[in-house]
Amino acid sequence: MTDQTPDDDAADQSARGCSVVSLQLPLTVRDVGPEDLVDLEWSGGPSHLTALAETVQRGYAEETALIMISAPNQVSIAVGGVDFTRRPGSGELWMLSVRGGWQSLGIGSILIAALEERIRGRGLLRATLSVEHDNPRAEALYRRLGYLRTGTELDGWPIGPGRSYATVCFTMAKTL
Ligand SMILES: CC(C)(COP(=O)(O)OP(=O)(O)OC[C@H]1O[C@@H](n2cnc3c(N)ncnc32)[C@H](O)[C@@H]1OP(=O)(O)O)[C@@H](O)C(=O)NCCC(=O)NCCS
Repeated sequence: MTDQTPDDDAADQSARGCSVVSLQLPLTVRDVGPEDLVDLEWSGGPSHLTALAETVQRGYAEETALIMISAPNQVSIAVGGVDFTRRPGSGELWMLSVRGGWQSLGIGSILIAALEERIRGRGLLRATLSVEHDNPRAEALYRRLGYLRTGTELDGWPIGPGRSYATVCFTMAKTL
C-alpha cells in the first residue's frame, strides 16, 4: 500500500509526458430485476448467478434487496445485496462485487453506501457483513468505511452441482 493519491498519479504521468484528462460519469444505482441477470454474468459462476436470481425472488417478499450500478452506456459495473433475515435487527451486506477494470475507483464505496441506505430505510441501524480471512484488501475498505470486526465464523456456499466451498470469515458490523 502507498500514500500515492490520484493527484500524485496524475502529476507522475504528466511528468512522463502523458496527457491526463478527467471524465465525470453519471452512474445509475438501482434494484436488480430478473431481466438484468444476464448482464451480471461477469460477477460469478453459475451458482453465483443462481444465488442472485434467488435474491431477486426473495426481494419480492422484502427479505432481501439487490442493487446494481451501471455506467452511462448501460454496462453493469457493480452488484451487491442486503439480507434482512440473516441477523435479526441488522442488514447483512453480501455478494459485493465490482467489475474487473472498475475496481479501486470508489464504486464499491458507492455501492455500500446505497446498500446502507436500504438498511436505514427499513428502520434498522446496524449493518453487518463477513469477509474471507484472506481478503485483506476488502477488509481494509470495510474498516475505512467504519466497519469493526465482531468475530470469526465458518461460512460456505455452493460452487457447483453437489459441491460447496467452505471458508473462515471475519464478521464485521457498523452502527448506521
Ligand atoms: C471489494 C470490492 C467490492 C471493493 O470495490 P472497489 O470499487 O474496488 O472499492 P473502492 O474503490 O470504493 O475502494 C477500494 C479502493 O479504492 C480506493 N478508493 C476509494 N475511492 C477512491 C477514489 N475516488 N479514487 C481513487 N481511489 C479510491 C480506496 O482507498 C481503496 O484502496 P485499495 O485499492 O488500496 O484497496 C471490489 O474490489 C471487488 O469486487 N473485489 C473482488 C471481489 C471481492 O473481494 N468481494 C468482496 C467479498 S467480501
